[in-house]
Amino acid sequence: MRVITQQKLGGPEVLTVADAPEPRALPTEVLVRVKAIGLNPLEARLRDGEFPLLGQPPFVLGWDLSGVVEEALTWRFRPGDEVFGMPLFPRAANAYAEAVAAPALHLVGKPKELSHVEAAALPVVGLTAWQGLVDLGGVAAGDRVLVHGGGGGVGHVAIQIAKALGAQVLTTASESKREFVEGLGADEVIDYTKVDFAEVVRDIDVVLDTLGGDTVERSLGVLRPGGHLVTAVAEEDTELIGRFEAAGMRFSGIAVDPDPVGLRNLVALVDQGKLRVHVQETFPFERVADAHRLLDGGHLQGKVVLTLNS
Ligand SMILES: NC(=O)c1ccc[n+]([C@@H]2O[C@H](COP(=O)([O-])OP(=O)(O)OC[C@H]3O[C@@H](n4cnc5c(N)ncnc54)[C@H](OP(=O)(O)O)[C@@H]3O)[C@@H](O)[C@H]2O)c1
Repeated sequence: MRVITQQKLGGPEVLTVADAPEPRALPTEVLVRVKAIGLNPLEARLRDGEFPLLGQPPFVLGWDLSGVVEEALTWRFRPGDEVFGMPLFPRAANAYAEAVAAPALHLVGKPKELSHVEAAALPVVGLTAWQGLVDLGGVAAGDRVLVHGGGGGVGHVAIQIAKALGAQVLTTASESKREFVEGLGADEVIDYTKVDFAEVVRDIDVVLDTLGGDTVERSLGVLRPGGHLVTAVAEEDTELIGRFEAAGMRFSGIAVDPDPVGLRNLVALVDQGKLRVHVQETFPFERVADAHRLLDGGHLQGKVVLTLNS
């Protein structure tokens, strides 16, 4: 089978298509013929070495996938089932490949309403938003939620989840993404290029941060007493956590995990018509370097996905 691998750290050009032996499923696992692969900014940081989660190359990137079960050494699926998920995250899942062996428990059935491309785009961002807003944030109907970076992968799903929970949703995004995020249900859009959210936003119950940097610290003042900041980006800084606690607020960092219960909850929202996935652009498998150039550029609207004909 073909995989995308790299022999050294560096720019998108280090990613190359190579032949590799097909993986073998073990008992409790399935072998999935991959139809689409969702890309995440993290993979660009692994590729260039900024974040050495997988160590030194050679390695195969990738977690988000959608495809068809070819072999099932499990009672959970049968050959022919369409599945999606983010198996094994954050251990290497080698998902930039034509076939992937994965724990059955880390995959769920693909909803008919989603194409393989859309399904492959959902797991990492969907579970990050779900775990941040629901499992950690405990967002409830009537809450005021601020989603930072609402036009991006995590943000665009988070807006929809928060709306589905009955929250009032504010979001930061550039003006070019206003129509997009309003279409997803955002009640108030703060164009971060013109307006400082810290000056205009108050009484927030839960902030979901997808930006890091000083956004976390500057979000402290927008929370109501007892409010909760959940960040997908910032490091757990003891001094900063102490300041949140001293102000009567909560601070949580999230490291997303491949929870199948959360995935099923996302599927339920899709089935109810409350969640859709926006794919900005797809690239054929061989054009992975171009897809990574888009990731490197930032300013994404939704997701970038690789497609396979296998
Ligand atoms: N901890 C975890 O488990 C976990 C899981 C998933 C993702 N993450 C991390 O979360 C971050 C976001 O991921 P993603 O997939 O959503 O990234 P993304 O798709 O690249 O989205 C980022 C979005 O933020 C917007 N943006 C940039 N600067 C902004 C600002 N100052 N204010 C408001 N919006 C701004 C960008 O577009 P515009 O600039 O055009 O508005 C873009 O739409 C990444 O660092 C990723 O690695 C962490």
